Amino acid sequence: MERLQAALEKARTARGEDTRPVQAKAKRATSRGAVHEAWEAIEPITLDPRRMRRNRIVALSGGREASPVDLLRTKMLQQMRQNNWRRVAVTSPGAGCGKTTVCLNLAASLSRQPEMKTVLVDLDMRRLALADILGIRGRGSFWDVVEGRVSFAEQAVRIGQNVLISVNTQKATNPSEILSNSATARLIDEIEAIYRPDILIFDMPPMLMTDDSLAFLDKVDCGLLVAAAEKTSVSQVDVCERDLAAQTNFLGVTLNQCRYSSGTGYDYSYH
Ligand SMILES: Nc1ncnc2c1ncn2[C@@H]1O[C@H](COP(=O)(O)OP(=O)(O)OP(=O)(O)O)[C@@H](O)[C@H]1O
Ligand SMILES: [Mg+2]
Repeated sequence: MERLQAALEKARTARGEDTRPVQAKAKRATSRGAVHEAWEAIEPITLDPRRMRRNRIVALSGGREASPVDLLRTKMLQQMRQNNWRRVAVTSPGAGCGKTTVCLNLAASLSRQPEMKTVLVDLDMRRLALADILGIRGRGSFWDVVEGRVSFAEQAVRIGQNVLISVNTQKATNPSEILSNSATARLIDEIEAIYRPDILIFDMPPMLMTDDSLAFLDKVDCGLLVAAAEKTSVSQVDVCERDLAAQTNFLGVTLNQCRYSSGTGYDYSYH
């Protein structure tokens, strides 16, 4: 039944109809003031530049190092705007290709565009990398929000004025069930309605190790695949591209961890 519903919604979306639940549509009509208040209510955090640098987050303050990330950001935004897409899942074939690093760099790069509002959600409930990089502890996990133990407003953090991040600080025992359930879909609709982000980025688990990512891909507008230059094979990219395209719109592949690049190891190419 849920699958049928998802298929119908996908078809309606393709026709340009607004398929969001009535509640979400009403909330989407929230005034600018209410949206601003909702953003202000989220606790701001300050990122330690040295910690960021250690973790290869290079796009916070612009400049030469940030330019490959900025390029990826701009290409991605252009494609998403053209298609009226707002939700992007960032995934990869295997583990450790750089999804979390790419997601946080994209958020950092987007934070320098004051007219853009970004929400980054950690949907990897098996590894807690995003919380580790940001140094966030003890404020619950995104999946606690899904399960109603804490509100998104209490659990998320704000970077500057225009980026919200929700991380996982504890592992879940049933990630694929959480990712496929309707409470997760409703929560994301609500976040979209209340905070009105221009873009929602989802930091996903790898595709070839569990069914976690596949369980969620019908809830996004598009998927970006991160491949690691010397680790991911062409056939792995092929399989994942096919699986992604079967569930959502395929945005492209970004090649990460290229040694031949600028020497910093931060370059991304995009195909
Ligand atoms: N462009 C890059 N150059 C060099 N090292 C990188 C690059 N991007 C990421 N790394 C490093 O690779 C490791 C894995 O990165 P990251 O955690 O972002 O990958 P991931 O795909 O999210 O992993 P997981 O599958 O565990 O979620 C980290 O140590 C990270 O600092
Ligand atoms: Mg990760």
